[in-house]
Amino acid sequence: MSFNLVLFGGTGDLAWRKIMPALFQAFRHGSLPAGGRIIGVARDHHSDDEYRALIKSRFDNVDLAKRPSEEEFSRFAALLSYLRMDLSSPADYAALAGTLTQRPADVVVMYVATAPSLFTTVCEQIAAAGLNGSTTRVVLEKPLGHDLASNQAINATVRSVLTEQQIFRIDHYLGKPSVQNLFALRFGNALFEPLWRREMIANIQITIAEDLGVEKRGAFYDSTGALRDMVQNHALQLLCAVGMEPPINSGADAIRDEKLKVLRSLKVWTPQTLSQHVIRGQYAAGSIDGVPVPGYRAENGVNPESTTETFVALRTEIANWRWAGVPFYIRTGKRLAGRDAHIEVNFRPAAHAIYPSPLSSSRTANRLVINLQPRDGLELHLLAQGADQRNGRGMPTLAPVQLDLDFDKRFGSERVGAYERLLLDVIAGRLNLFVRSDEQEEAWRWVEPIMDAWNNDTIGPRAYAAGSWGPSAASAMIARDGYCWSEEC
Ligand code: BG6
Repeated sequence: MSFNLVLFGGTGDLAWRKIMPALFQAFRHGSLPAGGRIIGVARDHHSDDEYRALIKSRFDNVDLAKRPSEEEFSRFAALLSYLRMDLSSPADYAALAGTLTQRPADVVVMYVATAPSLFTTVCEQIAAAGLNGSTTRVVLEKPLGHDLASNQAINATVRSVLTEQQIFRIDHYLGKPSVQNLFALRFGNALFEPLWRREMIANIQITIAEDLGVEKRGAFYDSTGALRDMVQNHALQLLCAVGMEPPINSGADAIRDEKLKVLRSLKVWTPQTLSQHVIRGQYAAGSIDGVPVPGYRAENGVNPESTTETFVALRTEIANWRWAGVPFYIRTGKRLAGRDAHIEVNFRPAAHAIYPSPLSSSRTANRLVINLQPRDGLELHLLAQGADQRNGRGMPTLAPVQLDLDFDKRFGSERVGAYERLLLDVIAGRLNLFVRSDEQEEAWRWVEPIMDAWNNDTIGPRAYAAGSWGPSAASAMIARDGYCWSEEC
């Protein structure tokens, strides 16, 4: 299937960091359909060759194993060209239409990797130039809006010129191999399904921790914060993947219908739960791997008096028959003690204890950990009896043991990165791993009361030292339920 991929924001940060490297990997793996063409679009003046040289120079920042050789790059570069456009100028879209008709393709992918304020302009202009025909697919990056109203406004405009089948809203967490394995674990195996419910599960914890700070995105981040940047999308998508009912088939709408039901079932916030079950934090100066790092307010582009949160921990429930009463904890933050994303499913302890076992081991056992990154795999924590473990009265005691499955080791080089997977899916027209407008709106609807509560709260986020696990209030919140975060148990 031949394709034309138009990359709006072709000289932007996302193009360098994610999209071009992913396109190259797809090319290297031979999975990019033949007859493809990639047209970078931006405001600056560049010839095709200058653009190719720019892209080549940026590959120097990519992991060595993912960097092209000279020969590979010259073959990849043959797909690349450049078009200068002012994204508000109708004449420039007419020029784009001309470029596309010179070499028609089965599919036209319009990847809008620009500032979010340009999303609707680009979609309207594409339509005005007659480029929104049924072979066109438009990819929209997050953030799609700042709140429910702005998200609905963007969706309304975009849907007035494109059908839902043409709109690919990216949440790159859905493209991660580990997240697909979570679906596989749940819906490709019968083992866990009977256990996946309130009768057997005590609580579920979703952690997305980053050790990086805001890097060069201080200004953007300061008007966004962790709730909008990570919770509204990535963390809630993970929660949906863990909590959803089995879909009736693997079709995009079957999956998205089930995720939507989870979002609709999330427990409604009350003033009490908003104050007790949501913790926001902001990193102060500290150290990461022994290297001192500045606090958030001293970062470039950040208001020195900023009250933007760089950490969120919260407790919610999915109010339905499967999950009623089971706490789901989400926590995410920047400048935490490590880069670590995982989901912990904590099963209930044995109903009747016939073995004496130390409290500490019973807390860490009976647990399934789904590691998302940096390692990707599964750990099953159990209690077992070692040959010579006896307590003072000669009774056998149990000790924690662990089954460990490392998907990187098992599948290694066959693995496909998140952006590579998603780009190939867009070209093939597969919507399974993209977010539908109603899901996105429902997620905004659920986080809005938190944003409102923070707007009316003069205390602001709690400070935590960079390199720690966030404010102690996050530990106190979970401890009130009698549980602890994994690193604390
Ligand atoms: C992005 C956020 O969506 O996800 C960033 O805007 C964050 O702030 C990033 O760093 C995390 O992605 P990953 O794949 O590195 O976990």
